[in-house]
Amino acid sequence: MIVASRAPYPATRLRRTRAHSWLRRLVREHQLSVNDLIYPVFVLDGAQRREAVASMPGVERLSIDLLVEAAAEWVALGIPALALFPVTPSAHKSLDAAAAWSPDGIAQRATRALKAAYPELGIITDVALDPFTTHGQDGILDDSGYVANDITVAALVRQALSHAEAGADIVAPSDMMDGRIGAIRAALEAAGHERVSILSYAAKYASSYYGPFRDAVGSAGNLKGGNKKNYQMDPGNSAEALHEVALDLAEGADMVMVKPGMPYLDVLQAVKAEFQVPTFAYQVSGEYAMHMAAFERGWLARDAVILESLLAFKRAGADGILTYFAVDAARLLQASSN
Ligand code: PBG
Repeated sequence: MIVASRAPYPATRLRRTRAHSWLRRLVREHQLSVNDLIYPVFVLDGAQRREAVASMPGVERLSIDLLVEAAAEWVALGIPALALFPVTPSAHKSLDAAAAWSPDGIAQRATRALKAAYPELGIITDVALDPFTTHGQDGILDDSGYVANDITVAALVRQALSHAEAGADIVAPSDMMDGRIGAIRAALEAAGHERVSILSYAAKYASSYYGPFRDAVGSAGNLKGGNKKNYQMDPGNSAEALHEVALDLAEGADMVMVKPGMPYLDVLQAVKAEFQVPTFAYQVSGEYAMHMAAFERGWLARDAVILESLLAFKRAGADGILTYFAVDAARLLQASSN
């Protein structure tokens, strides 16, 4: 016969607060809500167009009319904001990326259309040249093929101003040039756009998790096996992320981002702890793709894993999460609160 020992008792039994659903809910430290979600969308030229993205099952590129139509559900779900990524036809790509600041560009038109239809839906635009360059780099090249920092910053300023003119609420430089936040902030102020916020992709790593995104916006072919390591951060660095964030805040960033997401939760946690400013994370295309691959094979339980993956960002300190699961997660959260 097994006789349970009566003493010494564990002084603390952590299982007591795990015993009931109501009690687990009461003591839960971090929660995911629809208010945390930003939905990144790929926008096509033309009308009545929708295209699947092979490496991102369930994600579609949409023309502006279909995007506006689809956004009705996202707004109804309470998703606070969209992040727009234009898919530029190759005829509009060039060495100087001039299409990036055209008032009739896809991002500019999509911004106007969405703001007209849903004034209360936040619109975040991507400030970077890679969708517009023939070589797929995020900047303008000098004669040696190096991405020229200050010339690129001048182009980014024009792009950001054109987004603000179109009605963007938040411009989000994802290019990783030095000094672009200060230059963009100064230009926005001078042009009367003092209420437009800047979300800086401050700690953006030279990651191999961006592959499916480059397929989605059609820059992968242009990049031809090239990489972005001389401007995006080295995955081996974490103190440097704090340095980047400190500079961007000093230059006027309102919010900062860490990207990719799940493989860089340590960086996210360090940034939030150090600066206590609005800190966003991007669960990037490769993270979406690997989840979807496992879901399609029946290897992971879709709904539960989506929510767990996003809750991890909250636990690490994220205020907002850019995720291709935003709509799925919003639906799941709504269903679970009913
Ligand atoms: C480029 C940009 C990238 C992403 C957002 N903006 C890719 C890159 O740096 O090559 C990636 C997003 C994702 O993978 O979901 N300015």
